[in-house]
Amino acid sequence: MARSQWGSRLGFILAATGSAIGLGAIWKFPYVAATNGGGAFLLIYFLICLTVGLALMLGEMALGRAAGNSAVGTFRDLRGGRWPLVGFVGVLVCFLVYSFYSVVGGWTIAYIGKSFGGEILTSDAKVLGDIFNGFITDPALPLLYHGLFAGLTLAVVIGGVQKGIENLSKFLMPALFVLMLVLIARALTLPGAMEGLLYFLTPDFSKVSGSMLVDAMGLAFFSLSLGMGIMITYGSYVDKEANLLSSSLWVIALTVLTCFLAGLMVLPAVFAFGFDPSAGPGLTFITMPAVFAQMVGGQLFAVLFFFLLLVAALTSSVSLLEVVVSFVIDEFKVGRKAAALGVSLLVFLLGIPASLSLGIWSEYTVFGLGFFDLLDFLTSKLLMPVGEVLLAIFVGWKVWPVIEAELSAGARVPAWLRAMRGFCRYVAPALIAGILVHNL
Ligand code: PHE
Repeated sequence: MARSQWGSRLGFILAATGSAIGLGAIWKFPYVAATNGGGAFLLIYFLICLTVGLALMLGEMALGRAAGNSAVGTFRDLRGGRWPLVGFVGVLVCFLVYSFYSVVGGWTIAYIGKSFGGEILTSDAKVLGDIFNGFITDPALPLLYHGLFAGLTLAVVIGGVQKGIENLSKFLMPALFVLMLVLIARALTLPGAMEGLLYFLTPDFSKVSGSMLVDAMGLAFFSLSLGMGIMITYGSYVDKEANLLSSSLWVIALTVLTCFLAGLMVLPAVFAFGFDPSAGPGLTFITMPAVFAQMVGGQLFAVLFFFLLLVAALTSSVSLLEVVVSFVIDEFKVGRKAAALGVSLLVFLLGIPASLSLGIWSEYTVFGLGFFDLLDFLTSKLLMPVGEVLLAIFVGWKVWPVIEAELSAGARVPAWLRAMRGFCRYVAPALIAGILVHNL
């Protein structure tokens, strides 16, 4: 069977960006930045994305294109031994992330409904908090929406690489950008917004700590979809002529920009309405409705916002499912439909305890964490960094000649490629290992 291919270079960039930009940038970034003191976190997050993040994204894309295989197969083809385990961990992480991602994706669908109903159009922090908490702790409704979200993702993935993923990204990601700009204009002109803006933009380096670095790194890898074979898989669908350096620069720039815009959209409003910036996972869901309540045509904006958030989440969840499906297809030689269906079903089941742990099962904890938080911790703070270290070592030490040939095209090795080797060989392993050790 011939391997799928992207229809165009733009399609590839948009799909990779679609994978990167999602709930991580718009839901996670604002509340993690807020709980970590704002400005300094933003700066460190940027730095990580533009250095280690870039080196690793390029590494992943080059690996995938060189091998023309999915996450596990790529390691097997290029080196063998125990290395395929790294790809396997990536597939596992995708699976785990997808299960709680789909739960939050379901929230966005529910909030489209709530926007239509108009019940969330108030600036009363208490009411909005109660609505959000009432919803996520409900034993049944969030599961329904989780199933719906997983179903939508499934439909796109069955549609195949070009038709499904590419088309979705091409039209709706630009729309998301435009809408965010409109919302930022409204949020920044609210009385009291300046305090939030300063909080977000002024670095306070006394807030820098080990746990902040871990959070920044975890979020950087999470939001760039790194360390789990996604960019390997997407890279394997790219033709040999495409320039991977500029492609990955685009993906990173757009993702970082979206995080920045999400911060501008949410944090000034948090201060303007007197919400608690460390409200956690509910921050975007609680704050944005208060902004809509202050807008002419607020209901329309609310519907649009949660719809586009859903689309952003879908283009990411599609990449999560695609990696697992691609692995199952290549390893077990089953058809795309059967693979996608089976994986989706398992993800749905795993999402159930994740969702219930926010409500009726909240008393069941492991290491003091509910199942939802445990999945998040295990993936973004533990397995993804571990995957990253191994990936960096693999790229920098084990298969560097392959990477160099894949990326340099000409006879001379450009300076950026030498810098990238340095990052993969020394900086990334030292940094990530240091932080991991600190964390444990
Ligand atoms: N990067 C996506 C987001 O920020 C989530 C994601 C993580 C997708 C890891 C794929 C892999 O929402």
